[in-house]
Amino acid sequence: MNRKPIGIFDSGLGGLSVLKKIQQQLPGEDIVYLGDTARVPYGTRSKKTIERFSIQCARFLVDKGVKCIVIACNTSSSNALEIIKKQTSLPIFDVVNSSIEALKELKSVKNIGVIGTSATVNSHIHRKLINFRKFKIVFEIPCPLFVPLVENGEIESKITDLVAHKYLSKKRDKVQAVIMACTHFPIIKKSIKKALGEKVTLIDPAEKLSLSLKEYLLKNNFESDRNNGKLTFYVTDISSTFKDTASVFLGKHSQLKIRKTSLDN
Ligand code: DGL
Repeated sequence: MNRKPIGIFDSGLGGLSVLKKIQQQLPGEDIVYLGDTARVPYGTRSKKTIERFSIQCARFLVDKGVKCIVIACNTSSSNALEIIKKQTSLPIFDVVNSSIEALKELKSVKNIGVIGTSATVNSHIHRKLINFRKFKIVFEIPCPLFVPLVENGEIESKITDLVAHKYLSKKRDKVQAVIMACTHFPIIKKSIKKALGEKVTLIDPAEKLSLSLKEYLLKNNFESDRNNGKLTFYVTDISSTFKDTASVFLGKHSQLKIRKTSLDN
């Protein structure tokens, strides 16, 4: 038994889609969530900067006494996982490795695609991690406009359908599965499917991550014995659109008690 909280960080609020899945699987766990909303997006930045920001996020969580760290940001996972691992001995769960684990469980899939932020796609991390004899990466496509579209609530909207069409329609019916390597994309999966074809399997790494985390905690006697975990929510900036963006990920009526913090020191 271990009552310490689980630490989750993301570049902003997209990681709330991962938080939601973890809360569903592990309702008794306390969670500390950190969203670096002052510096989001990470997806347009250099590897060096993403590493620096991600290390600061991980250190913040370590200082909060967490029992493990969830990197709920694909951009951080693809560019900074190795360097974070060197800084802490805590168990780390990340969305990129979870997407590969999820892929391995799919039957009769050979050709796959990857979509994400520019920094994630340019890292070619999925290419490095997949088993080439089993899978072939047919395309890796950066879809940066999806992030502001989602943050502005353009869900199931014509404009998102149009952008998805522009990014993806040339790849229609070319692959059996696509890794959604950005926390924002699962929310617009209808538009993504319209562009890629209804038959494609879209992989949301958050599902596998939450299951692996649960399995790890139970196996190692690391789970909390509480019934209702508490969420402590930190951000580095609270803008005028904060509530609207948070409600895109958590639903309109969710109440968040927010604490503001700073990571630059
Ligand atoms: N959370 C980021 C990710 O999953 C998307 C937003 C950003 O560019 O920071 O890659």
